[in-house]
Amino acid sequence: MADEPLVLGIETSCDETGVGIVRGQTLLADAVASSVDEHARFGGVVPEVASRAHLEEMVPTIDRACHEAGVALRDLDAIAVTAGPGLAGSLLVGVAAAKALAVALGKPIYGVNHLASHVAVDIVEHGPLPEPAMALLVSGGHSSLLLVPDVTDDVRSLGSTMDDAAGEAFDKVARVLGLPFPGGPHIDRVARDGDTVAIDFPRGLTSRRDLERHRFDFSFSGLKTAVARWVESRQRSGEPVPVADVAASFQEAVVDVLTRKAVLACREHDVEHLLIGGGVAANTRLRALAEERCVKAGVMLRVPRPGLCTDNGAMVAALGAQLVSRGREPSDLGLPTDSSMPVTTVLA
Ligand code: KG4
Ligand code: ZN
Repeated sequence: MADEPLVLGIETSCDETGVGIVRGQTLLADAVASSVDEHARFGGVVPEVASRAHLEEMVPTIDRACHEAGVALRDLDAIAVTAGPGLAGSLLVGVAAAKALAVALGKPIYGVNHLASHVAVDIVEHGPLPEPAMALLVSGGHSSLLLVPDVTDDVRSLGSTMDDAAGEAFDKVARVLGLPFPGGPHIDRVARDGDTVAIDFPRGLTSRRDLERHRFDFSFSGLKTAVARWVESRQRSGEPVPVADVAASFQEAVVDVLTRKAVLACREHDVEHLLIGGGVAANTRLRALAEERCVKAGVMLRVPRPGLCTDNGAMVAALGAQLVSRGREPSDLGLPTDSSMPVTTVLA
């Protein structure tokens, strides 16, 4: 509908330069340029390399999004941009570009939270968000369980990772197994031929005592170390490493804890809808086990398609459009970036 807000969203918090365009709840364009290949040989994202890539890709990606959506910049009603959390230098490139557009076009700017955007993106896939919703966000940079009464205004953290993010654990274990970066998709693929109960890897923060203090928190660094030790001891004794079994057993340990805690949170907070987002939400075993446990618990599961789970501009545009529709005040043009923006701050 032409009277719905037309919003362009810019995302540069990590290694994806994303520009999305949304009208109301309809996705019109989702252009993404990733610098992931440039980081592969370092085994992780190098902030300086990421910032430089954002700078090079920003204008071409904006052009591509406008072309894809068939809109001109002057048609936009607002610009939304990730203000945090994320890599400081990368965020600066996106926010500077958004400010330039806002000033040049005379349009309002909305500096939004990256995590809230991961939740809001499901609106363009599955329609309005149930209020409240529970959200499990799992990626290379974050593992959070959020209670979301209103994605434009009220996002509460129930728990997060105490050490490595879920995707980070996938990437580190993949390295131990000699698989390329980013490791998540490779572990997912290799694990299909493995046995999930071949090795009994630890489930972090699930003991009765841990559940009292860290009910909805996660910890994956002990698991990562356990996998590395197990592989090393095999190698030392000259036995072959059963890569598929290690991958399947490790993956099971991660998705078991994630889904168990997410469903527990839904039950205890009386929430009927669970949303999963972030790059790790592309994991086939996570999707299957979440579906199985949600059905059992009477919880409705929503997972956006993989392309909308990883970092992209559409998610920022989707949240921006919600903010405009609900009449929220835009951000100040002096809007700062905040690399450790708390999840409770939806709009800077
Ligand atoms: O959301 P994303 O693209 O960027 C961050 O904000 O980090 O997530 C990337 C992370 C990487 O750690 C990658 O290994 C993981 O998501 N990932 C997966 C899968 N696809 C991507 N992890 C497990 N299984 C997958 N299929
Ligand atoms: Zn993300």
